[in-house]
Amino acid sequence: MTTQRTLAIIKPDAVERNIIGKICTMLESNNLNIVAAKMKHLTHGEAAGFYQVHASRPFYNDLVSYMISSPVMILVLEGENAVEVYRNVMGATDPKNAAPNTIRAEFALGIEKNSVHGSDSVDNALMEIGYFFAQTEIIQK
Ligand code: CMP
Repeated sequence: MTTQRTLAIIKPDAVERNIIGKICTMLESNNLNIVAAKMKHLTHGEAAGFYQVHASRPFYNDLVSYMISSPVMILVLEGENAVEVYRNVMGATDPKNAAPNTIRAEFALGIEKNSVHGSDSVDNALMEIGYFFAQTEIIQK
């Protein structure tokens, strides 16, 4: 077990429904500590760059439009095995396949409006955290 950091985004559908607190409670209940947080209304360039890895996918343009439709909350989470723990707490990308009691099973509206994003590997977590946060914005323990 190693202490890791991962990036979480609480997406427009969840921010619009005022469920940031409920989602953060699920994170904290699973030993994921919030060590950085910011509210941000992403620009087209920021969202397109963040999801660049999906640029060739048919859902890319809609995904970028959705992610800039209203503000998001971006978090850095820290804890033992944080990348995998958070992926388990999020549940599957498509809420139809998400395990009971996961964030997406509880709150997601569909595969696009799936309430939260999470890094899928330790390497991507490092890259995604660096995309949105300076080291000076992250609590060092
Ligand atoms: P996220 O974890 O943020 O990573 C990429 C996002 O693309 C994903 O969550 C979904 O919200 C979105 N998406 C939209 N359509 C699809 C699809 N058909 N397959 C996978 N992801 C999709």
